[in-house]
Amino acid sequence: MIIKSAEFTVSNTKISKLPLPELPEYAFIGRSNVGKSSLINMLVDVKGLAKTSQKPGKTQLINHFLINKSWYIVDLPGYGYAKSSKSNRSDWAKFIRHYLEKRESLQCVFVLIDSRLEPQKIDIEFCCSLGERGIPFILAFTKADKQGAPKSQQNMAQFRKELLTHFEEVPQMILTSAENQLGRDDILTLIDGINQN
Ligand code: GTP
Ligand code: MG
Repeated sequence: MIIKSAEFTVSNTKISKLPLPELPEYAFIGRSNVGKSSLINMLVDVKGLAKTSQKPGKTQLINHFLINKSWYIVDLPGYGYAKSSKSNRSDWAKFIRHYLEKRESLQCVFVLIDSRLEPQKIDIEFCCSLGERGIPFILAFTKADKQGAPKSQQNMAQFRKELLTHFEEVPQMILTSAENQLGRDDILTLIDGINQN
């Protein structure tokens, strides 16, 4: 798929103010600082479209970006940000759960996992919560440029193994890097395929 246009549409904290669910959308979610906003910028090839930061907790709102005037990418705040207060975290959970469960136009969730780490409990639990709700998701492993391929492959294999203790089948896994565009074609082809159906 060729990206012809990518524009910021709206930031929200309220489900009621989201754009009308008339176009297919794809949400990007994962731990704070895992690289959600960077991956989005890499996919659309626009630096700075989604705001990134070295400090976790940058994305606090639900941000819609309209792509090729025909589908949305949604940048969500990260989970597991230790510095946010407990009530903040439970607000996040409620808001995101509501969004994920009710958003009719949501086609698929990209769950981002740091490829440098062994399986983290919080990520496995999040995948399980999607599985329990029947929400389709794909795993995108981020920051592949930060270590050699064997290490990433090893962590991905371990994540798969861990998921297989909870699921019969494991969703698709894609290794990505916002630095060198690894995984870009795979993700865009996947989205294109879903949009065509
Ligand atoms: P929150 O919005 O705070 O939840 O973070 P986020 O998941 O959107 O992460 P963000 O894209 O802001 O990236 C966090 C940090 O990781 C930034 O310093 C990025 O430059 C860096 N980063 C993200 N992706 C990559 C990558 O693929 N390679 C490298 N080397 N650095 C990356
Ligand atoms: Mg972000």
